[in-house]
Amino acid sequence: MAYTTKNEKVSETNTLFAMEDAGQADQIKSISDCEQRQTYTIEEVMNGVILGDALKVLKKLPEEVFDMVFIDPPYFLQLPKKELKRWTVKTVVEGVDDEWDKFPSFEAYDRFISELLTQVKRVMKPNATIWVIATYHSIFRIGKIMQDLGYWILNDVIWVKTNPMPNWLSVRFTNATETLIWAVKDKNAKKYVFNKEQAKQLGIGKVGANVWVLPLCNGKERLKDEMGRKVHSTQKPIELLKRVILTSTHEGSLILDPVAGVGTTGYVARALNRNFVLIEINPKYVEWIQKRFNHPLKTIDLRPSIEMIASQHLNVEETEDGLLEIL
Ligand SMILES: C[S@@+](CC[C@H](N)C(=O)[O-])C[C@H]1O[C@@H](n2cnc3c(N)ncnc32)[C@H](O)[C@@H]1O
Repeated sequence: MAYTTKNEKVSETNTLFAMEDAGQADQIKSISDCEQRQTYTIEEVMNGVILGDALKVLKKLPEEVFDMVFIDPPYFLQLPKKELKRWTVKTVVEGVDDEWDKFPSFEAYDRFISELLTQVKRVMKPNATIWVIATYHSIFRIGKIMQDLGYWILNDVIWVKTNPMPNWLSVRFTNATETLIWAVKDKNAKKYVFNKEQAKQLGIGKVGANVWVLPLCNGKERLKDEMGRKVHSTQKPIELLKRVILTSTHEGSLILDPVAGVGTTGYVARALNRNFVLIEINPKYVEWIQKRFNHPLKTIDLRPSIEMIASQHLNVEETEDGLLEIL
């Protein structure tokens, strides 16, 4: 594979955005869900974040309103309790040990995912698409649940991380990928948005195959608290959301992220002139979403960064018999 592993360089040059303080707060409205609230109009919640349980909030939203949904659900990692140390510096590895990632059993996890995906389907427009991202811990269960619910899978996009966490115990391969399932509501869904030219530029080779090579969220982009600790253990890269949004929506589209974390989906959506609704259950993360929007992203010229991305792609060419060959 011909991609570079000089992570910092890739991370700084690949992005479409400059982290810029616009000088004035780009506020995001925040709504606290409560038992008394029976319904929300889209106008009330558009370009805002709802603090609440997605399983309750989604039931209160009107049906068939969203053009695209991005879901980065709990992974249910079930990591062992033992402390892991880095090989050379011997510092302790911070895993994902958050309460929100814990479920009592696979059955309980499946019930949560199934309920979430059922609710989400109701609020998707007939031609909307949905992205769900996860690691090997749960992506296969999620894929089965999606198919059982009637979703029609269009692609799985493999995110190859240029700076993955090593397998510190050296007992298995370092896991350097996450999978994004991209789907429509059902097999008959037609005329969904697929921005072919963007996909070609962002995927590998001239054909834009379904592999995205980009680093984990790090550096200045990573939200840190006053003690220098990561605010959210699984904050997704801006570049990843940029690709999702550019390939599957138009300007003005309405995007839903029902498990929003620190709001990366909405943050990138705003910079790309899309509308959004975020739902997040943890008040601490909602506060950080609000802080984050005080420093909005600004889009800068698209072309140079896309060339940078292209330069790290695997080289894929069409052969005489019409197949693709990775060189
Ligand atoms: C994997 S993280 C999402 C990270 C996000 N993509 C980002 O870039 O910040 C999953 C999030 O789901 C939230 N969550 C878990 N259960 C939820 C529920 N029932 N309703 C809303 N949010 C929930 C967690 O608090 C956590 O922040």
